[in-house]
Amino acid sequence: MDPERAHLRAITAAARAAPLLGLARWRVRDDRLSQRVWGIRFPNPVGLGAGYDKWGRGIAAWQRLGFGFAEIGTVTAQPQDGNPTPRVVRLPADRALINRMGFNNDGAAATAQRLAQWDRRGVLHRIPVGVNIGKSKVTPLEDAKRDYVASLDRLWPYADYIAVNVSSPNTPGLRELQETVALGGILEELVDLNRVKANLTGSRRRPILVKVAPDLSDGQFDAAIDLVQEVGVHGVIVCNTTLARDGLRSPTALVDQAGGLSGAPLAARSLAMLRRATARAPGLQIISVGGISDADDVWERLAAGASLVQVWTALVYGGPALVARINRDLLARMDAEGVRDITELIGSGA
Ligand SMILES: Cc1cc2nc3c(=O)[nH]c(=O)nc-3n(C[C@H](O)[C@H](O)[C@H](O)COP(=O)(O)O)c2cc1C
Repeated sequence: MDPERAHLRAITAAARAAPLLGLARWRVRDDRLSQRVWGIRFPNPVGLGAGYDKWGRGIAAWQRLGFGFAEIGTVTAQPQDGNPTPRVVRLPADRALINRMGFNNDGAAATAQRLAQWDRRGVLHRIPVGVNIGKSKVTPLEDAKRDYVASLDRLWPYADYIAVNVSSPNTPGLRELQETVALGGILEELVDLNRVKANLTGSRRRPILVKVAPDLSDGQFDAAIDLVQEVGVHGVIVCNTTLARDGLRSPTALVDQAGGLSGAPLAARSLAMLRRATARAPGLQIISVGGISDADDVWERLAAGASLVQVWTALVYGGPALVARINRDLLARMDAEGVRDITELIGSGA
């Protein structure tokens, strides 16, 4: 089956089966895994990466599959179809995927409505739900700010945090927005709107995070980290998919496919960027994503200073029991190494 169809089916099946999946089977409930980040309680550190549930269709399922949080989207201000299919390719020999989805999604208004429905059913905030926003393809790059602001405006009420995606390789020009002048302009507007919304509604500001590409040079990455701190953004998600194709084992016909590469081959780069960011900005909250597939990977990222992690490609290869397995194995290793709770591990370098 086409990988994209298989993955859509998995979402639908997970959403349908959610009420039937005995909670005990998948959810690992243990306070040693829980922590507060930005004042929000995360029951465990393993989240669903953006792009798996671009629509917010599976909200009920994500908690039941054991995730500590889920990131919905990327959502754009306008609904859009994305690129022609096929647009996801599996590289099993490398435990990797290449995708060129192009932000297929329902648009901010429809997604907000769907999240509102989950909210009315009391399901939305059982685990923290981040909403990842990006630029609509029809919006010229110079108007990008307006597009992000429109999405934030619609989705703000439902999001536990906001991820600003300026790093997908599949929307032409998008990654140019990581350059500091453009990014600064966008982030300042979003930070302002966040403050206004919080004041108007008397509720808390939403943490805003920026999701960056692994293909930034060290200098560009440092500049982005500095900027994020200057404008008062709350964290960084490191990293999106890569255009690099180094060291792959798969046949050329697969390796040469257009799009962003994810999965195991991204792990080293993602970890190196995490280390660089924590060295440069000690206190900055980081969600580490890229090539994480088991509890040892999660351990390594948390020890290197990530507050939280996300998985995506490993779900395709590891199946729905992955998150439960990771959390159980994390607890076992914490026991073995005498780590009392997850906050002790974070940034320990262990
Ligand atoms: C098919 C596919 C679609 C994705 N769509 C998005 C997206 O819409 N927005 C986004 O920020 N990241 C998207 N990503 C990137 C993931 O969230 C993640 O950053 C990346 O895949 C690295 O993690 P992994 O190695 O665990 O897959 C997508 C990844 C895949 C494989």
